[in-house]
Amino acid sequence: MATKLAALVVLAAFLAGPAACDGASICFNGWLRLPTYNAALCRPRPDVQTRQRRPAPSGSGLSSGYYNTRCPSAEKIVTDAVKKAVDANPGIGAGLIRLFFHDCFVRGCDGSVLLNTTNSKNSDTEREGPPNQNSLRGFEVIDEAKAAIEAACPDTVSCADIVAYAARDASYFLSDRKINIQMPGGRYDGRESFSNETDQLPGPFSNLTALQGSFAAKGLTSDEMVTLSGAHTIGRARCLFFSTRFSEMEPAFAAKLRAQCNGNDGTNVNQDDVTPNVLDKQYYQNVVDKKVLFTSDAVLNSTKTITQVTENANMTGAWERKFEKAMETMGKIGVKTIGNQQGAEIRKVCWRVNN
Ligand code: HEM
Ligand SMILES: *[C@@H]1O[C@H](CO)[C@@H](O)[C@H](O)[C@H]1NC(C)=O
Ligand SMILES: *[C@@H]1O[C@H](CO)[C@@H](O)[C@H](O)[C@H]1NC(C)=O
Ligand SMILES: *[C@@H]1O[C@H](CO)[C@@H](O)[C@H](O)[C@H]1NC(C)=O
Ligand SMILES: *[C@@H]1O[C@H](CO)[C@@H](O)[C@H](O)[C@H]1NC(C)=O
Ligand SMILES: *[C@@H]1O[C@H](CO)[C@@H](O)[C@H](O)[C@H]1NC(C)=O
Repeated sequence: MATKLAALVVLAAFLAGPAACDGASICFNGWLRLPTYNAALCRPRPDVQTRQRRPAPSGSGLSSGYYNTRCPSAEKIVTDAVKKAVDANPGIGAGLIRLFFHDCFVRGCDGSVLLNTTNSKNSDTEREGPPNQNSLRGFEVIDEAKAAIEAACPDTVSCADIVAYAARDASYFLSDRKINIQMPGGRYDGRESFSNETDQLPGPFSNLTALQGSFAAKGLTSDEMVTLSGAHTIGRARCLFFSTRFSEMEPAFAAKLRAQCNGNDGTNVNQDDVTPNVLDKQYYQNVVDKKVLFTSDAVLNSTKTITQVTENANMTGAWERKFEKAMETMGKIGVKTIGNQQGAEIRKVCWRVNN
């Protein structure tokens, strides 16, 4: 009983919304601090149990310079909007990179993460899913770029492509222009978005098997998982997700975090204490130094992944090149490229489907 009550309190604090108790939350295993997961009530997750990898995403139908003839100003409009936003607040750049990851892992890179209004009007969208609610940021940058692009060339550039270009540009500016992702375009926008599908995103409490499994389910390798985790060298995280781990961290780092959190689950702290706003390889040294926040970060110190962690930490440029490649590959997951034939479209406004 006491355990159940505690679990409810945690869930309520975590979801921070009145409509949160939909019962489905118990399936968000890697996102729960307490072991409330009940496999019997959740749909089977073969991706987490095995490490059978889907084929790597082909991204067929995408091409670089896709809008050069269709809407020549499109990419520059995105770049300018991202530059302005990152100059004002580097955290928004972190938000844009994460937005891309969360878009691509749920229904493919189809802009479904941006929707707060769909045709199935009563169902919650991805934006309300536990990994996303009160957490994702950068939407206004996407909306601003989209508005300017629609004014220049209506009905031509997808929101999914804007998210992908924005992640590319945020990576460029936050890395002091050292990370230059070749990001193709040609994605169409989806017309559905369901909060329950965000359980496909790995969570901060996921173990190594679960992390590898969730990436494998999208056709990504364990190496790509380790490479992409390096994005936790920027941005912020809420105390809720790591306050059970202070004793496993480097003592001075733990003490600083403890003071910052001050018992408050909702407080945000920097993920990388050393270079908080630079997209660099510092994350991998942090893993070795026990200066990372989540279980999902700390488990990269395992025999299967430590070689890569050590290499990334100390070989100049190695991680940066792998990150460029892995982001490009992530951008190919589940893309819709033949428009209406797959129930896809070019949205006019990124947060709602066309009528
Ligand atoms: C490997 C599994 C991963 C897990 C378990 C995970 C989990 C998380 C969590 C829990 C947060 C903090 C959210 C909050 O407190 O509101 C976060 C933040 C972040 N994650 Fe991940 N993540 C993973 C992989 C990735 C990948 C692949 C990327 C991008 C390539 C990424 C980019 C980010 C960024 C940039 C932030 C900071 C966002 C901000 O400041 O707005 N993460 N992640
Ligand atoms: C997710 O929610 C939607 C809408 O409520 C529902 O139709 C669908 O069956 C749910 N999917 C799963 C896998 O639970
Ligand atoms: C949906 O999100 C956008 C920001 O992307 C916001 O401007 C709009 O007001 C939201 N609409 C609804 C119905 O919540
Ligand atoms: C890892 O997590 C999965 C999913 O939560 C769980 O089924 C499995 O038992 C865990 N593995 C280990 C070694 O703890
Ligand atoms: C990494 O794993 C090794 C071997 O299990 C252990 O001795 C070491 O303390 C761990 N380091 C970190 C940073 O967790
Ligand atoms: C990287 O090299 C430095 C200097 O040799 C060393 O102090 C550090 O421990 C190395 N990092 C890793 C993760 O091996």
